Amino acid sequence: MTDTVIQQKYLAACAIAREAGRLIRQRFETRDEALTLRFKGPQDYLTETDAEVERLIAQRLSESFPEDAFFGEEGGGTMASEVWIVDPIDGTADFARGVPYFCVSIAFVKDGRSEIGVLYDPMQDELFAARRGHGATVNGKPLRVSTVTDIRQAVVELGWSNRVRFEDYAKVLDRLHAAGAGVRRRGSGALGIAYVAMGRQDAYCELHINAWDAAAAVLIVDEAGGWTNDFLTEACLREGNRVMACTPALRPVIEQAMQLGSE
Ligand code: IPD
Ligand code: CA
Repeated sequence: MTDTVIQQKYLAACAIAREAGRLIRQRFETRDEALTLRFKGPQDYLTETDAEVERLIAQRLSESFPEDAFFGEEGGGTMASEVWIVDPIDGTADFARGVPYFCVSIAFVKDGRSEIGVLYDPMQDELFAARRGHGATVNGKPLRVSTVTDIRQAVVELGWSNRVRFEDYAKVLDRLHAAGAGVRRRGSGALGIAYVAMGRQDAYCELHINAWDAAAAVLIVDEAGGWTNDFLTEACLREGNRVMACTPALRPVIEQAMQLGSE
């Protein structure tokens, strides 16, 4: 694939993320506040906007790149050697409850590696974007991870879902706390990881997250000079993986905190 083709895809992904974000914001601002919350399963929110936004993104991508495969959180799709992996709204629980903290995530993955990663937060009007080997930006401004080297000065976000045992989460939380980290938890893994790329926090980790949540964000951290684990393995594309993203100096302590089965 030539550089020009990748650049075309990158520009298209940025434009589509912005268009999708405008739709999400419109739906958020005009939602019926008395609306009953609906669930796909325990703690798993269902909103019509997720599916509507995913359909819009799939349509735009297939108009521009009919040869590429598509896989989205809501409707699934096909995994192929060249595939767009999309989370229409990451932070659905906050979206559904009226909290303005969510984003759209679009990654282009080629031969198991993210080549393009784009996230758009429509409420802050922040577009995080990266192309492998070309750096990462927010609204066109270059991104760099923080210079924090001491865990006792670090802000670490530890994501959690009911896909993992609470005891395992508690173990990681306990270790991070004992090491002196300031631990937080917000409602969007994708934005949480992107915040590492711009130094709003120094690390993000989660014992299990799906490919669509983090495929774009980890590339953004890599391209901002951070360290990430080998997230996008073949198995991850099917069943998710653990994710770690941090400043290079914090890698040993984050890896150690995330290790299970060894004390
Ligand atoms: C979830 C969010 C959350 C993370 C979970 C994800 P959703 O995605 O990213 O922060 O901890 O692992 O499943 O449900 O908001 O699309
Ligand atoms: Ca998600």
